[in-house]
Amino acid sequence: MIRFRNQLTTMYLFKTTTDLSRHLEKVRRAGKTIGFVPTMGALHEGHASLLRQSAEETNCTVCSIFVNPTQFNETTDLVKYPRTPEKDIALLLDTGCSVLFMPDVVEVYPSGQQSSLHLDFGYLDQPMEGAYRPGHFVGVAQVVKRLLDIVQPDELFMGQKDFQQFAIVRHMLTEMALPVNLKMCFTVRETDGLAMSSRNMHLTPAQRALGPLIYQVLSQAKANMHDQLPAALKLTAMKLLSVPGMEPEYFEIVDGRTLQPITIFEGHDMVVACTAVRVGDVRLIDNLIMKMS
Ligand code: PAF
Repeated sequence: MIRFRNQLTTMYLFKTTTDLSRHLEKVRRAGKTIGFVPTMGALHEGHASLLRQSAEETNCTVCSIFVNPTQFNETTDLVKYPRTPEKDIALLLDTGCSVLFMPDVVEVYPSGQQSSLHLDFGYLDQPMEGAYRPGHFVGVAQVVKRLLDIVQPDELFMGQKDFQQFAIVRHMLTEMALPVNLKMCFTVRETDGLAMSSRNMHLTPAQRALGPLIYQVLSQAKANMHDQLPAALKLTAMKLLSVPGMEPEYFEIVDGRTLQPITIFEGHDMVVACTAVRVGDVRLIDNLIMKMS
């Protein structure tokens, strides 16, 4: 265990499940609630908002930093995933995080990386990210389940930014009746509208300048939802995102619970516009809640 301190917080860093579990057992025995924010590091203000919400709503916030190999379908993506541990620790101390868990792969997967999680996600892992990143969500569900088993939090905080991931995790918690309360935290954006993401640091200045278009197009679709059907909004959005240097992979308007594309807005409590675009080698995803009742 290593201890970090600033004027605000003392934070303990654990690398093994045994040491972490021992510490969290004491936290639980003291009657404290545990909030959990799983991450892959390269932390930014988006993560900070999840951590701050957890620190406000629970007594002990645990953050994990683990670049999970089982959710990458391209090895090059795994290798080039940004790793910035010193910067991450400084950010964590500023958010009131109490515990940082940074395990090695063998600590998370002691008996190998093949998934023992047999869960049917139905349609949820088929469209959008599921279609472009085969196997990705099985890896995400596998690691989130494993981390939940280790941390055993009361509250789990995840971002709206990865909306499909959120839907997958919600489904897993319900199907497996896991005793944790899942909270969605809204997307944090740069001042020009680009959603914060660890991938943004790979953008060249010219590519970065294209970034705000994604949020503009999402916002325009939302602004026109009372005059046009989802199919027409989708067509316009795909056209607007097809500019030199940017290539949209999908723009879908979906039911917020089932992720099925919708044909009309009526009859859906929650509707979300989701998109993924390629800007050079960088793949950016974003979404906007169009309707929520
Ligand atoms: O969203 C992420 O950073 C990852 O998919 C998660 C949830 C930490 C699992 O590795």
